[in-house]
Amino acid sequence: MSFSTLLATDAAAIQARLDRALQGLDDQPVIHAMRYALQGGKRLRGFLVLEGARMLGVDPARAIAAAAAVEAQHAYSLVHDDLPCMDDDDLRRGLPTVHVKWDEATAVLAGDALQTLAFELMCDPALGSAEVRVALVAGLARASGAEGMVLGQALDIAAETAAAPLTLAEITRLQAGKTGALIGFSAEAGAIIAGADPAPLRAYAQALGLAFQIADDILDVTGDAAKTGKRVGKDAEAGKATFVSLLGLDAARAQALDLTEQAEAALAPYGAAAANLIAAARFVISRDN
Ligand code: IPE
Ligand code: IPE
Ligand code: MG
Ligand code: MG
Ligand code: MG
Repeated sequence: MSFSTLLATDAAAIQARLDRALQGLDDQPVIHAMRYALQGGKRLRGFLVLEGARMLGVDPARAIAAAAAVEAQHAYSLVHDDLPCMDDDDLRRGLPTVHVKWDEATAVLAGDALQTLAFELMCDPALGSAEVRVALVAGLARASGAEGMVLGQALDIAAETAAAPLTLAEITRLQAGKTGALIGFSAEAGAIIAGADPAPLRAYAQALGLAFQIADDILDVTGDAAKTGKRVGKDAEAGKATFVSLLGLDAARAQALDLTEQAEAALAPYGAAAANLIAAARFVISRDN
């Protein structure tokens, strides 16, 4: 199966699990907004969960709730990232953002409920023993909060009004938090479910997460909103600190390529079984959406 077919197949399974999680909930605007925010997307984080599990011999059907959980968490982060007090965006996944389609209060609350849904999904008994599920919940919490995504988002917003441009080390720390942490956890989750050593997957995902955000920053400069489904050219306008703002496009591309090579090298212990994760690393820097 080609990588794009595999990604699409996994995305459909993840969407079905998310649909099931929201089945039967009240007919309220906040629930409609949650469903709306869960549509679309590449599902790369969920794919990393499923493929990590598959590579380590776990039936991906057993890991589907964890894949749905990281995608719910990611969807929450996007709804809040787009708010007027954050990046103030009106287009996401080719559609009006949640606060534009409904209002800000609904967007804040739908994001909140997507986050709690993520933790509820992580408690699904199909994922394994109570110990396994606690490890998954703790891992998601650490990746998402004050030492992970929330910290990175706070540094990202603070950088817009910083007196001096951020250094490479500061931008690396910012991006490791806002994007790297959840991608890192997603790649490790399969190992947690399999009861395997997560260290090689962690090293893979650290490099992959950074490459992913550099590609996102490059797409903001060179991309096409019809393909990315979100406005482009906004980072420079907002004064964001990115690898592109610091290094320029060519050096940022070189850095992303170098990072994907590091990501691939980290998978050496798995040999040929890592082919799909290697394909994912290549996809991350060659994508146009
Ligand atoms: C966009 O993430 C936000 C970042 C963390 C850079 P994705 O590019 O994975 O967005 P979707 O899920 O495919 O829409
Ligand atoms: C978003 O980064 C990171 C999180 C949502 C945690 P960006 O602000 O660069 O993402 P886009 O470009 O709006 O998708
Ligand atoms: Mg942002
Ligand atoms: Mg944004
Ligand atoms: Mg961006």
